Amino acid sequence: MAAHHGAVALAAAAAALLLLVASSPSPALADTAAAVLGRKGAGVTTNVVQGPAAGRYAVILDAGSTGTRVHVFKFDKKLDLLKIGDDIEVFAKVNTGLSSYAGRPQEAAKSILPLLGKANSAVPSRLRNTTPLKLGATAGLRLIGDEKSNQILEAVRDVVHAKSKFQYNPNWINVLEGSQEGSYMWVALNYLLDKLGGDYSKTVGVIDLGGGSVQMAYAISASAAAKAPKVPHGKDPYVTKEYLKGRDYNIYVHSYLHYGALASRVEILKSKNGPFSYCMLRGFRGNFSYHGEQHDATAAPEGAAYDRCRQDVARALHLDAPCETKNCTFGGVWNGGAGAGQDDLYVASSFYYMASEMGFIDGEAPSAKSTPAAFKAAAEKVCRLSVEEAKAAYPKARGHPYLCMDLVYQYSLLVDGFGVEATKEITLVAKVKHGEYYIEATWPLGTAIEAVSSKRRLPGA
Ligand SMILES: *[C@@H]1O[C@H](CO)[C@@H](O)[C@H](O)[C@H]1NC(C)=O
Ligand SMILES: *[C@@H]1O[C@H](CO)[C@@H](O)[C@H](O)[C@H]1NC(C)=O
Repeated sequence: MAAHHGAVALAAAAAALLLLVASSPSPALADTAAAVLGRKGAGVTTNVVQGPAAGRYAVILDAGSTGTRVHVFKFDKKLDLLKIGDDIEVFAKVNTGLSSYAGRPQEAAKSILPLLGKANSAVPSRLRNTTPLKLGATAGLRLIGDEKSNQILEAVRDVVHAKSKFQYNPNWINVLEGSQEGSYMWVALNYLLDKLGGDYSKTVGVIDLGGGSVQMAYAISASAAAKAPKVPHGKDPYVTKEYLKGRDYNIYVHSYLHYGALASRVEILKSKNGPFSYCMLRGFRGNFSYHGEQHDATAAPEGAAYDRCRQDVARALHLDAPCETKNCTFGGVWNGGAGAGQDDLYVASSFYYMASEMGFIDGEAPSAKSTPAAFKAAAEKVCRLSVEEAKAAYPKARGHPYLCMDLVYQYSLLVDGFGVEATKEITLVAKVKHGEYYIEATWPLGTAIEAVSSKRRLPGA
């Protein structure tokens, strides 16, 4: 038995070596290769089967609308990230999303085979059956409807079960709810900032502005969690519990569908009074097209006006919706009761892109301090311009006709929606320095951390 395993491990090591050498012949890689060979060479008979655990791996597939990605992470016993080869993760992508195969589930499932192959070559064979594999499908698959997305997920489960040796659980291959995306991102960010393992009040809060939705997540006290309002059946609860690095956390999380950076434009255009949008830059005529629907976005002859645009945005946010839970963000949603877990606030994705493209933070910096007021100041400047003037003034920006609208929205979302003081210092974040690497705080990393952290045993279980 041992000899057989040894031979397989050696073959795997040789294959890994070939892969490393073929991909890049740098001196750093030669060292890695030597280390791999040394370890295997010394331990073939004694260490392969019962050797010290070299770390725990997790394989996470992120099935987005434009493609499917695989991330393989490796952790030590203390849950610190370890290198795999010469990098901190193994990553690969196929550029066709599962949702593109609507009605063709077998083809959808086949599309992930190269990713399974990549994951296979990253994880030593003896550790595969204890390495969890999870797949989370985001926006794309939610949009094609339950029947078609379930067919695809069933086919993917079959392929994963039949073609890979990873730890398999059909419940780990699913559509990810917006709130799960938010809480996993909170886990990843606080992990990278080394905030986990201590009191909840030391953690940071996060607001992530995606294209279709915006998520807010922050840790709250156990007593605040106990006061969380009930949600209607079938809706995501407001509080998720996580056990991480030996501590329990109550994470308040809410995902606002339709309030992402792109989806919000539709809501704002629907909220305009009269034939023109006072959020659109002077000179623009035409429609905003979103998910196949056209929305008239023609600018007023005199161009955008900051104050009038802010009124449209306020209506779009439903700031005056009844608040049954006493403390609300917008649209009648409970705000989590505030508290220490959101004192230090990180804002991500479109907030970061906008600030760096407009030049009020350094676009090369992985993260930067700013304030909501900086978004307002940029809005007041850009709303006065025509589309052509904005193109000349802000060459790095995208979607110039919408710059006034987007900036007013981002400011109002923070200040009126989430109740952040205009002058409060916030961190705009793309990546976090962790050890020698700059790493993105994304939900796949958070999922991996949760998957490998030891579960607390329930009393009597
Ligand atoms: C905008 O959409 C409407 C309705 O779909 C269409 O009739 C109109 O031609 C479009 N306008 C432009 C400028 O594309
Ligand atoms: C609402 O906010 C107040 C003041 O911050 C707090 O004392 C109270 O517990 C909160 N209630 C809920 C349900 O969040």
